[in-house]
Amino acid sequence: EKVIHMEIGETDFGLPAPIERHALAAIKRGYSGYTEAQGLLSLREKISGFYNESFGASVDPERVFITTGASGGLLLLTALLLNNDENLLLPDPGYPCNANYALASNANPVLVPVDSRTDFKLSPDLLSEYWCPDARGLLIGSPANPTGAVYSDRELLELNRFIEANSGFLLTDEVYQGINFHPEDWFTALNVSSEIFVINSFSKLFGMTGWRLGWIVAPPSACSDLLKLAQNFFICAPSISQHAALAAFSDETQAIIEDQADTLRERKEFLVKALRGLGFRIDAPPRGAYYVYAELPKNSIRSEEFCCRLLEEEFVAVTPGTDFGTNRSDDFVRFSFTQKLSTLSLAVERIARFLRDLN
Ligand SMILES: Cc1ncc(COP(=O)(O)O)c(C=O)c1O
Repeated sequence: EKVIHMEIGETDFGLPAPIERHALAAIKRGYSGYTEAQGLLSLREKISGFYNESFGASVDPERVFITTGASGGLLLLTALLLNNDENLLLPDPGYPCNANYALASNANPVLVPVDSRTDFKLSPDLLSEYWCPDARGLLIGSPANPTGAVYSDRELLELNRFIEANSGFLLTDEVYQGINFHPEDWFTALNVSSEIFVINSFSKLFGMTGWRLGWIVAPPSACSDLLKLAQNFFICAPSISQHAALAAFSDETQAIIEDQADTLRERKEFLVKALRGLGFRIDAPPRGAYYVYAELPKNSIRSEEFCCRLLEEEFVAVTPGTDFGTNRSDDFVRFSFTQKLSTLSLAVERIARFLRDLN
């Protein structure tokens, strides 16, 4: 029987046609060599234009670095900002690779538990409990994986004030920007301060997961060191991907991704309601990204056993909470709503049968 994939972080929409056309033209023109280490100026200008038009934020293209996915950006920034034995604070639950970037710099990830009482968000009060002399910075996602939490500009401002007062750095991962379910959530940390490091990606919004392309916006004072690291670690981000991405901010592509965001909103509404109907607890439904982080019904088995058995018995793949941290993670699972409504509906039927058979 065909497995329904609700465990992965990529949609079923495929590549927007204008991006595909640009990619094919770039191959034909032979753009297969290295580019500037910082990335094509024309692409950095498009990104700068995007921030200006969408958020009224002024971002000099010299502050934009094109990276090998957000992953490449995260590696560059943790290498730049963390030294041996320094602490990087991270929300728990959170994107699992972040702790590993800190470890790769011989730094310590410090997991700060967050739960639905604060909509899975950190606050200065919570941070101050975990900030210590070895703490150097904070890395948050907005919209966040796995919880779909979105920080408001006021909340980001308060976090940034705390970080500045403690001479630390703030990194915000905005790779799910544009997949927002509430219009008032539309902003970027770049509007709070040009000292915040922002990470973004073509993977999620533009359906380019395999093209390995993302970007960083860095404070002016960090750009020269960042360029040295980028040159040495990567030489440059993939050339054809950069040329393809030049079409990402065109009106045609933007119309496509806006439609996709509407489709994801419908899927989110369907799935949250259906899972609640099956006894899952969802106290803070996602405000962005494409995951539901749901608490297992009280009488069910715990997270990892739930995921293994659901896959083996009903062919539905979901991700155990234990992938995202240690904060009551055994009680949670993450469902992606990256599949069609008809597929999600079939998955819900299978999950319902699985839960019935358990009891
Ligand atoms: C929060 C978050 N950051 C970064 C990434 C990595 O993105 P990329 O494909 O751009 O490397 C992911 C991928 O799932 C993610 O969920």
